[in-house]
Amino acid sequence: MRSIAIASGKGGVGKTSFVINLALALTQYHQKVLIFDADLGLANVDVMLGISPKFDIRYVINGELNLKEIVYSTEYDFDLIPASSGVVELTHLNSDQKILLKDQMEEVFKVKLTRTLQVCRYFRRRQDERLHVRPILRLRMR
Ligand SMILES: Nc1ncnc2c1ncn2[C@@H]1O[C@H](COP(=O)(O)OP(=O)(O)OP(=O)(O)O)[C@@H](O)[C@H]1O
Ligand SMILES: [Mg+2]
Repeated sequence: MRSIAIASGKGGVGKTSFVINLALALTQYHQKVLIFDADLGLANVDVMLGISPKFDIRYVINGELNLKEIVYSTEYDFDLIPASSGVVELTHLNSDQKILLKDQMEEVFKVKLTRTLQVCRYFRRRQDERLHVRPILRLRMR
């Protein structure tokens, strides 16, 4: 299994569009894809897909459901863990909620988030106009 994080320090640069298109492209190569919409309080992916999942990340943060229970199967052959829309609390999770989410992702989907978080912290520390970040996308198709 491979996990790919798409992030940027700036809004409106095409993250959500890219994620959906990448998921569609990967499914054409018969890859099983699960999108986790990490824009927790302002759901993007479901809006762009024109769907309204019954359950979303709010139910996990509130402790009512686990991540696996909110997975939504789209008609496009990939799955989605939906974010919430207009839920301000989700934009500033407390440390217990962050740990709950991280633990569930690691446990339920067997992904290690530590490396991604380290990279994010590195760039946050060094955010500097003189720093040129060159994105590299490595995909291995089977
Ligand atoms: N490759 C592209 N060429 C032109 N327009 C694009 C491209 N990718 C995305 N857009 C347009 O740019 C706008 C922002 O795209 P998108 O919502 O995917 O960005 P985002 O980074 O997810 O934004 P946000 O930070 O608000 O979540 C949309 O109107 C989208 O249609
Ligand atoms: Mg977006």
